[in-house]
Amino acid sequence: MSAKKNILWYQNAVFYELYVRAFRDSNGDGHGDLVGVIEKLDYLKELGVDCIWLLPLYPSPLKDDGYDISDYYGIHSDYGTVEDFDRLITEAHKRGLRVITDLVVNHTSDQHPWFVESRASRQSPKRDWYVWSDTDQLYQDARIIFLDTEDSNWAYDEKTQQYYWHRFYSSQPDLNYDNPEVAQAMLGVMRYWLDKGIDGFRVDAVPYLFERDGTDCENLPETHAYVKEMRRFVEANWPEAIMLAEANQWPEDVRAYFGDGDEFHMAFHFPVMPRIFISLHLENAQVIRDVMARTPAIPSGCQWCTFLRNHDELTLEMVTPEEREMMWSVYAPDDRMRLNLGIRRRLAPLLGNDLRKIVLANNIMFSLQGAPVLYYGDEIGMGDNIDLPDRNGVRTPMQWREGANVGFSEAPADKLYAPVIDSPEYGHKRVNVAEQRVNAGSLFNRMKELIALRKRYQSFFSGSQEFIEVAHPEVLAVVHCCDKGELAIFHNLSGSDVSFSLHHPPMQGAALTEVSCKDGRLSNPGQPTSAQVELDPYGSLWLLRDNSL
Ligand code: NOJ
Repeated sequence: MSAKKNILWYQNAVFYELYVRAFRDSNGDGHGDLVGVIEKLDYLKELGVDCIWLLPLYPSPLKDDGYDISDYYGIHSDYGTVEDFDRLITEAHKRGLRVITDLVVNHTSDQHPWFVESRASRQSPKRDWYVWSDTDQLYQDARIIFLDTEDSNWAYDEKTQQYYWHRFYSSQPDLNYDNPEVAQAMLGVMRYWLDKGIDGFRVDAVPYLFERDGTDCENLPETHAYVKEMRRFVEANWPEAIMLAEANQWPEDVRAYFGDGDEFHMAFHFPVMPRIFISLHLENAQVIRDVMARTPAIPSGCQWCTFLRNHDELTLEMVTPEEREMMWSVYAPDDRMRLNLGIRRRLAPLLGNDLRKIVLANNIMFSLQGAPVLYYGDEIGMGDNIDLPDRNGVRTPMQWREGANVGFSEAPADKLYAPVIDSPEYGHKRVNVAEQRVNAGSLFNRMKELIALRKRYQSFFSGSQEFIEVAHPEVLAVVHCCDKGELAIFHNLSGSDVSFSLHHPPMQGAALTEVSCKDGRLSNPGQPTSAQVELDPYGSLWLLRDNSL
């Protein structure tokens, strides 16, 4: 089966974020690799996802786990070869799976030959490829992102006695996009990978491409102009490929990255993510409704990406200071769980390993317009390891089965890039793919059902989305409408049963069908009377009014 069918393939796709180092080690060196991913493609197919997003694969000194690139045209030796990569694309496409890769445009590693040359002397032809200054007083309004490690966005270079600009670690100097050679060089990188047949890019750290004094150096018009250039280039040559923006910003600022349908195809919806956790804690749906009300419409052909967790800390940049304090005290009671402005924990531990809450959080994500993005391991409820530094604790080996090295690697345990989780609650005995696959009620099987459900009704998610209020503040209710009918989805954010009659005119007096009845039910199914919705604690219910009936 070919993956190449339609240019809007991404709009309702389910994405799977995959950290290659953690997934499967095929050659026993203790590091996951591309051949390992190929071995596991059938697993991803079975889960039902449509597109894999691969974290950076390029050669790198790994000061930021590959987001510090030292060669845009290669594959890190831990991961394999360019030929392995080609084979992965072929094998994925054979199975109808798409593949997008990370593209780090804002910065390189300080070991990239461009920077090595740039810092060699003030006269270097590449000097202007990075942002140099005699003073560290420029751009003072730009915030520091890696607050726990960096105290300035400038680093001093002893040899040439100037400062260079960096928005992340000081080992990640920012490229200077005011230099047209840099802008062209990045298009060359894109061409190389798109010519290999990838289905697009997750573009890293988009808001920071340009700097202007007196601004916060985010979302500048110059950045949008360059993004438009990237989009024109992609569209002209690879019309099915997508660009997905990582822009951790408020919805109105992210909206600008869709342009008039001429910038990004997709962008992560950062602000809704923490609000799913807030609403679960407060047992109140209002914060989700509020942020969705604040989310502008987007041009046709564009789509949000929703997510619960990823490879970074759960970012709390897009919440109020009060909400941040609340999130920290509820979800990160131990200081070691905190990092920068966020929480370095995985989904299952965040939700107290309560299967009902984990399924509910996913069900909420799947019931919003936008393409859901799952983080590897969260489909089986993997735990984290806060003893590991930085964000490494949420990047541990995938737990395939019980026993030595959890089926991740045949290397001696002390050669693994990171220890496997071995706690009584989240260790391989209790949390592994093999066991969950054969257990009907497991998280893996619940996720599989949810993915299949969402895909069965995917046409509803491209129509309109309306949040309705029911008499219970603990209920989140969203109605999707398309020419086929209406799909109403209810979530009970509380630990108690909820029952109410549905007053939503388009669905009143209509015959409604439950399309998922795991944790909720319609007490009068098929009756054209006012519907009585009953939800179990943390339950969800999907109700369909089908125009064709
Ligand atoms: C965002 C990535 O998700 C994160 O892992 C990385 O550290 C920064 N960008 C810098 O590239």
